Amino acid sequence: MIYDVIVVGSGIAGLMAAIEAKTEQNKVAIITKSNLFKSNSSMASGGINAVLDKKNTKEINAHINDTFQSSKGLGNKKAINYMCNRASTIIEKLEEYGVNFDKDIQGTILQRSFGGASSKRTCFVGDKTGGAITQALIKKAREIGVEFLVNNFVLNLAKYKNNVSGVICLRKLDSSVLIYPAKSVVLAGGGYAGIFRGNSTNAQDYTGDLLAVCLRAGLSLSNMEFVQFHPTGFAKTNYLVTEAARAEGGYLINSDGERFINELDTRDKIAKAILKQQQKGRKVYIDLRHLSLEKIQSRLPGLYNAAMNQAGVDLSSELLEIKPVAHYSMGGVETNMVSTSIKGLFVCGEMASNGVHGANRLGGNSLLEGVVFGELAGKKAASHAQDRHYLPIDYNIVIKDIKTIDKIFDSDTSKNFNAIRISMGNCLFDKVGIIRNRKSLIQAFDYIKYLRRESYSLHCINKERRNNVELTSILELRNALEISEAIILSAQKRKESRGAHFRDDFPDINKEMNKHILVTEIQKGYFKTQFQASKWIDFLKRTLTNKT
Ligand code: FUM
Repeated sequence: MIYDVIVVGSGIAGLMAAIEAKTEQNKVAIITKSNLFKSNSSMASGGINAVLDKKNTKEINAHINDTFQSSKGLGNKKAINYMCNRASTIIEKLEEYGVNFDKDIQGTILQRSFGGASSKRTCFVGDKTGGAITQALIKKAREIGVEFLVNNFVLNLAKYKNNVSGVICLRKLDSSVLIYPAKSVVLAGGGYAGIFRGNSTNAQDYTGDLLAVCLRAGLSLSNMEFVQFHPTGFAKTNYLVTEAARAEGGYLINSDGERFINELDTRDKIAKAILKQQQKGRKVYIDLRHLSLEKIQSRLPGLYNAAMNQAGVDLSSELLEIKPVAHYSMGGVETNMVSTSIKGLFVCGEMASNGVHGANRLGGNSLLEGVVFGELAGKKAASHAQDRHYLPIDYNIVIKDIKTIDKIFDSDTSKNFNAIRISMGNCLFDKVGIIRNRKSLIQAFDYIKYLRRESYSLHCINKERRNNVELTSILELRNALEISEAIILSAQKRKESRGAHFRDDFPDINKEMNKHILVTEIQKGYFKTQFQASKWIDFLKRTLTNKT
């Protein structure tokens, strides 16, 4: 099967890209590694930021400013400006596609306050905003004829002379390797916070596969050390206690019954404050008991039910224990807005590092980024595909992929992939988590290197080729371990604390490090990290100099 545009990923960025790319002439498909509804977007609860009045430049500038402040000097003003200015039009588009935002009796969209925001600008659908947007976009994509190729695991990109020429996939159904030629490819496969396995709000298969694919294709990853720890996950199951719970008036209290932080501070500060409470031997709880049952059930129905079902807690009368958990990755594939250095390849959503979040992200900006940059990537992919021919596929990569799969099936092993991935998640959370330092990072690096070696001697115990979960788990694990190494190397290089990256051996920001760290693969398995004074920081300096 050949397509003009292939989009990888069925979260909101991918869906939006596919909808934009689909024209009468363009054949468009979405490839996704599991089922269509499984994405971080569909689990995102709290809301999407937008200043709804397009003429209110003061408020739009406040949104831009809050976003830039939160990025701690690593934000890209061009990307931030674009996103914040596009927000109201995008909300209108989503409404047109069927998203039914919560409204007051006059029909005005309701907005709540999220942490770090100077005013209320988070639009929502109860606490199921991401799910509501995802469903509407899937429906729209289906209506206009986007095709869906589910259960396809992307192994590598096909390239021809620095142009993308297609996507090489493992078809999970029978473990065969397939090639999908395309004129343009959009990657929107989500982030890598799932590799903090057992300590993350992300689904367990958020293993940064497409970031590893991009590294192998010669692209750089940037800002990998910046992983956002959401302050409030269920202590036992990691399920997200949406920030909306605090936006609606919920408190954080410790086991002495004391509040210890402004609940609407930024996530990095709250996560650190909770960790400190835990280190003093105290437990931390979300407290909604002072809110009415009616309010909890109407504004936070998903959370209310999850607390009841997963923890046996009635939030209207009981406390729920929480802990910080890995939630979002600010780092990703280095892009200029959505473009990459490979022609015809566009990257958007959480897996892109386009500079809208820099060193830290504001709650409510991720859904916005996904839709806005998904839309842009779809437009660019469609225009790139226009009047272009299909390019040849390099079969050497395909043959290599087939050999890799055969090798995983062909030998036996006594090693267990699950034990390795649990060790990886715990190592990352303990040593590369909310607080890091030289010693913990060295320990993590050595351990991850060891696990990487182990992962290459993993084989399928079950030799059945139909829907072999072991096979995909092994491939995911190898990708996740590569990404783990990229995070650790970047965290070692950044000898300062900034945004979501906190080192207790370098607790302050160092202005000399107002730079990005790029990771590239120099040869299989070996990475190089380097500082890059970013183009957008230069751009900012020029703008400031012109003003003075
Ligand atoms: O807490 C939340 O609802 C998460 C929102 C976000 O990460 O943007």
